[in-house]
Amino acid sequence: MTAQLIDGNALSKQLRSQVAARAQALKAKGITPGLAVVLVGDNPASQVYVRNKVKACEDAGLHSVLEKYDAHLRESDLLARVEALNQDASIHGILVQLPLPAHIDAQKVIEAISPAKDVDGFHIASAGALMTGMKGFWPCTPYGCMKMLESIGYKLKGKHAVVIGRSNIVGKPMALMLLQQNATVTICHSATPDLKAMTLQADVIVAAVGKRNVLTADMVKPGAVVLDVGMNRNDEGKLCGDVDFDGVKEVASYITPVPGGVGPMTITMLLVNTLEAAESAAH
Ligand code: GUN
Repeated sequence: MTAQLIDGNALSKQLRSQVAARAQALKAKGITPGLAVVLVGDNPASQVYVRNKVKACEDAGLHSVLEKYDAHLRESDLLARVEALNQDASIHGILVQLPLPAHIDAQKVIEAISPAKDVDGFHIASAGALMTGMKGFWPCTPYGCMKMLESIGYKLKGKHAVVIGRSNIVGKPMALMLLQQNATVTICHSATPDLKAMTLQADVIVAAVGKRNVLTADMVKPGAVVLDVGMNRNDEGKLCGDVDFDGVKEVASYITPVPGGVGPMTITMLLVNTLEAAESAAH
């Protein structure tokens, strides 16, 4: 069997055009959705990510500001900037790019963002809302994964989903979203003794570890759906995910490629969250 691709670029294009239309409707009411992206330091990967986020905003007709600061920025100064953005009526979403330099307490900065503007969904109020099924912003990467499952008409009820990875950004919120759709969910991590025994039971596998070849063909039940959140480089320096794509695609029913899979969906859901933050502010 050769798996069908879930094309994150195509799905993003479709969803971003819906965002653009809704942004246009808000603009007609005098409100332009606005995102502030804050970057501290000169992490090269972060620089690429924030540039892509700002560009995606522009393309969808959203206002965006990029604030760049030197790596030596004081934590108190960053907190003051976040507070100013909380008060800024032209800004509906605030994103502080992670990682932050070691002398800054990232969680403290995240908690300083108003939950109403927490479009990354990292604030404990957003995490708590997700856990309890209340309204709140969902972290963009797992939210994008849910949209990919929705796009293939996949029904999670009664299915076994295995999430590999337990980060606050992907693994844990992913598990909660799958649970909310009535899947039976297993979270695996570095201390799981027999990962293969777990993944072989899975109808859906989400790989979110940040390591190549975490999931190989022998670990996948025929017909499973495989979502690859990884962003790694192979020996030739080419972008690759956590999944051995060439092997697993022969076993899975659906698979997301890297690049062109989950990656673009993360930014798409950021646009959706920012738009919805602006729509909420307009009411
Ligand atoms: N660093 C890596 N991914 C993300 C993300 O989704 N949001 C933020 N703020 N920083 C990140």
